[in-house]
Amino acid sequence: MKHTAIVLAAGKGSRMHSDVPKQFLLLADRPVIYYALRAFEESFLDEVVLVTGEGQDAYCRKEIVEKYGFSKVKQIIPGGKERYDSVYRALCKVEDCDYVYIHDGARPFPDEDILIRARQCVEEYGACAAGMPTKDTIRIVDGQCVVKDTPERKYVWQMQTPQAFSYRLIRTAYDRLFEKGDFEGITDDAMVVEQMMSCPVRLFEGSYRNIKITTPEDIRLANAFL
Ligand code: CTP
Ligand code: MG
Repeated sequence: MKHTAIVLAAGKGSRMHSDVPKQFLLLADRPVIYYALRAFEESFLDEVVLVTGEGQDAYCRKEIVEKYGFSKVKQIIPGGKERYDSVYRALCKVEDCDYVYIHDGARPFPDEDILIRARQCVEEYGACAAGMPTKDTIRIVDGQCVVKDTPERKYVWQMQTPQAFSYRLIRTAYDRLFEKGDFEGITDDAMVVEQMMSCPVRLFEGSYRNIKITTPEDIRLANAFL
């Protein structure tokens, strides 16, 4: 069985408000993206496809993949405008795998235990995603910030990556998504499976450290974890 990771690093990082895309900002002298690639390099995964922004592939090859000896990175491909465009391009390049693990390059801390849980879950159920129970109470509001609903906290999880799928399932889900062409509200891969397939998506435990670098304070948090 072949296990392939797709590591996404083609975003613009607009919420970070930095000149350098957030996946290349330094954490302890190494770019953010280094940490996820290292976790996959040291794991049971067979191959990694790195998805980068337009014109960033040479930098990634030389300054990250070759420099740190990430031998599992077999392809560096350009992403697309939206996250789902980047994922679909990558899915079309990894047709020979059995399981695919889609991961945000902006999440530096997918540790070994998370990857093992992902493997166990995907082998059993075929569609799964890392998540953690929310610590805060979540309220649903309307456009005027008036509370409409309060979901019971024990049933509310925050989604993370990796999200792992059997290849045929996620490929079919994305093929259908692009045939339909309705991308409204799609922010992760589990949603694509939920909406396009009849297969349920299981959540497995990620970790509270498995943060996504999104806004400037996340860099300070990530440095503290390191
Ligand atoms: N991503 C990608 N291709 C895109 C958009 C996002 O590969 N067209 C990747 C990002 O590089 C990131 C992950 O998807 O690793 C999660 O996306 P997000 O946190 O939203 O990153 P950005 O889109 O870069 O940030 P923002 O939404 O603030 O612009
Ligand atoms: Mg984004």
